Amino acid sequence: MQNITIAIDGFSSTGKSTIAKQLANQLGYIYVDTGAMYRAVTLYALENGYINEDNFDVNNFVMQLHNINLSFQFNKDLGFSEMYLNNKNVEKEIRTMKVSGFVSAVAAVPEVRYQLVKQQQEMGKGKGIVMDGRDIGTVVFPDAELKLFMTASAQIRAQRRYDELIGRGDEVNFDEVLRNVKERDYIDSNRDDSPLVKADDAIEIDNSNLTLDEQFQKIMNLVKITLENQE
Ligand code: DC
Repeated sequence: MQNITIAIDGFSSTGKSTIAKQLANQLGYIYVDTGAMYRAVTLYALENGYINEDNFDVNNFVMQLHNINLSFQFNKDLGFSEMYLNNKNVEKEIRTMKVSGFVSAVAAVPEVRYQLVKQQQEMGKGKGIVMDGRDIGTVVFPDAELKLFMTASAQIRAQRRYDELIGRGDEVNFDEVLRNVKERDYIDSNRDDSPLVKADDAIEIDNSNLTLDEQFQKIMNLVKITLENQE
């Protein structure tokens, strides 16, 4: 059977990575979380003093981009690949509220997007890939055979994110998480370079009222139809 490219876009905390991992496992495809790449670049900017308080020194930062090496390494126990920044596992550090607070600003920088999109396109050259992000169906793989656009209400997304952070032992309050979700929606959808928009040929999935299993069945059905259409 021919391998396809599956592009999953949508707002933050819509469960993109959950469904992407499930699909990749089921199909034996590679899974790439592009949000993790933008988060790792943001972590680098924070750790190296390019972001202080609320000031982001964009000009000096973009001159350092060549010093940032990103890679994914598969963790057999977890069943997915973890993000490495300059050969250090940063999977936990990139999910903090601090990184979430700055990542949309970093992801709006055209030089950052140019570099990361190039790497993402390289990873997907052989197809057999599930990639999630904000611009996968519109910019990274406009020819992807299956494009999904995930949505859910901001309240439900903030609750999911809050539960995840609390579950990991982070100290956060719900209003702060909700504010961050809404703020990122706004910045991601209104930036000049590759804003978050639904591709014309993407299928919208509102999972506000779907269980994980219902969502998986619904999307696997779409995958099967897409695969059949390839033959
Ligand atoms: O999927 P996530 O919430 O981990 O993504 C973090 C941020 O990175 C998100 O606010 C927007 C940005 N992003 C992007 O601009 N383009 C992508 N392809 C993936 C993420």
